[in-house]
Amino acid sequence: MTDTEEVRRDDRYATHEKFASLRGIHAAAKQNLSAGVWNYMHCGTGDEVTARANIAKFDDYLFEAPLFAGISNPDTKTTVLGYDLSFPAFTAPFGGGETLFHPDGMLAVGRAAQAGGIRQMVPVAAGHSLEDVRAASEAAVIFQMTFCGEENHVIDMIHRAKDAGYEYICATYSPIRQWRERMMEDRFSMPGAGKPSNFGPGKSDQAMMRELLDFTKPRWDWATAARVIRESPLPCIVKGVTSRSGARAALKAGAMGLYVSNYGGRTIDREPAAITTLADVRDEAGRDVPIIFDSGIRRGSDIATALALGADAVALGRACALGLAADGQAGVERVLDLLQDEFWTTLGHLGCSTVADLSPDVFQTRP
Ligand SMILES: Cc1cc2nc3c(=O)[nH]c(=O)nc-3n(C[C@H](O)[C@H](O)[C@H](O)COP(=O)(O)O)c2cc1C
Repeated sequence: MTDTEEVRRDDRYATHEKFASLRGIHAAAKQNLSAGVWNYMHCGTGDEVTARANIAKFDDYLFEAPLFAGISNPDTKTTVLGYDLSFPAFTAPFGGGETLFHPDGMLAVGRAAQAGGIRQMVPVAAGHSLEDVRAASEAAVIFQMTFCGEENHVIDMIHRAKDAGYEYICATYSPIRQWRERMMEDRFSMPGAGKPSNFGPGKSDQAMMRELLDFTKPRWDWATAARVIRESPLPCIVKGVTSRSGARAALKAGAMGLYVSNYGGRTIDREPAAITTLADVRDEAGRDVPIIFDSGIRRGSDIATALALGADAVALGRACALGLAADGQAGVERVLDLLQDEFWTTLGHLGCSTVADLSPDVFQTRP
């Protein structure tokens, strides 16, 4: 047993000066943000059916805690994409306004990820440049790149990310703008302080920014994506996979990993809750393809559920955004601590010594 594990077991309910639980972080974040920025963080699209279902559906996966098989000292560590993680999580790429949650934005998230022993996914739309985020912490290893506009501009940006020290690309796609009614009702427009800073002064960067925002242009097809994945100097994970056919297409296009996600219900409403799609994607991909899951992770027990259904790790979106809004880097660190500790407790009760012991057998009922 390491020293850290000893402390965690003996000192599990030690009171934290500011936040005893994730509920406290949620409350502090709400207090710190204007109603408009709070809605920007939490909104889904349309009636927000998918955003709600992402969270609610976890309640349909019910564990069976075995009798006299509990583990007193489970190990939450794992290795994913070659990274040793203190528990199976990455911070999700959330950008295009994250500096409204806290001015340090992705810098704070990366530093917290490093302190927590996990890794960070950095969005192209971050309020800080990809170089600055990478310089802020060693945790910044995956760069989220929107696949749109001129292929050579996308390739240029991937080269730039590689030069800065990123090791993977997370490819995303959005064909058209999103229908976010809370933001429409708030007449929300991004203040200058929230704007992305990865675009310019390079000519192709500026052109890319225009293309990102120009929804009159046709978007990419799989053949275009496959060409760019092939040419990319960094290995690529495709985000937004929620079906067997999506998994097949992404792997055929050259993805080395899959990222099961519906973007927290922020792209289109009435897609299924992401957690209900995970087992099929794992089945289609086979055992060896790395799979990251997000959309609805709020608790350590959610992490256990996602791993039992086939994910290798989860990504933390709003969970980290709340920590950022509550108390900057320290708030995100506290979120990671609480999630890791609750995950540790869940493993122990389920009789799992390691994350590899999580399987569908841990469920008493599931949809
Ligand atoms: C405020 C906000 C901004 C986001 N921006 C991005 C982005 O720039 N790129 C991206 O790939 N996903 C983005 N996402 C989606 C997250 O990466 C992640 O998929 C989502 O938050 C997961 O759902 P959850 O927050 O309910 O767990 C954003 C999410 C939020 C909440």
